[in-house]
Amino acid sequence: MLGPLGTPSHIERFGTCVLVAGGIGAAIVLPVAEALAEAGYVAIGIVGVRDSEHLVLLDEMRAACNEVIVTTDDGSEGLHGLVTDALVTLMAETAIDYVFTAGPIPMMQAVAERTRQDAIATVASLNPLMVDGTGMCGGCRVTINGASKFACIDGPEIDAHDVNFALLGTRTGAYLSFESCKLDEAVEALDA
Ligand code: FES
Repeated sequence: MLGPLGTPSHIERFGTCVLVAGGIGAAIVLPVAEALAEAGYVAIGIVGVRDSEHLVLLDEMRAACNEVIVTTDDGSEGLHGLVTDALVTLMAETAIDYVFTAGPIPMMQAVAERTRQDAIATVASLNPLMVDGTGMCGGCRVTINGASKFACIDGPEIDAHDVNFALLGTRTGAYLSFESCKLDEAVEALDA
């Protein structure tokens, strides 16, 4: 076991914060929400999943945040729609100083594109493939403002407005066919 790795979360400079989590991204957002709450800031959570069965850590998020908005793709819990729908509504009602987001790459990209329009400081917790976590293998390389960085040592929390999410998505999906193959093999082995 090795850690902690990477750079620590920045907690100190914010006012009203919105924490946007997609799926299991809630596990990344939760400790940030707890730290913000401890520091005395207003934290509003937006948690999005495909359906109510995929909600995780909702009680914990509710305990850490002043308010939590749930969105589901199928409308089985909370608002029927995407986290960005809830974010846009919130932005119209509330002055937001800071947005933190973690979850699927397209979701983080959509959040960043929306907050860029209103120049709201936004940080994304990036999730590229990582091998050593110490800056040696290059597996976690991300492009930030046109420059190569390693998410494991320069991040994982990066200014979302500077991230090349398209490239991050391509690199993260590089082994999907291999992963799918291995998953099929594992399921077959379980069935045997
Ligand atoms: S995980 Fe190897 S360089 Fe970041």
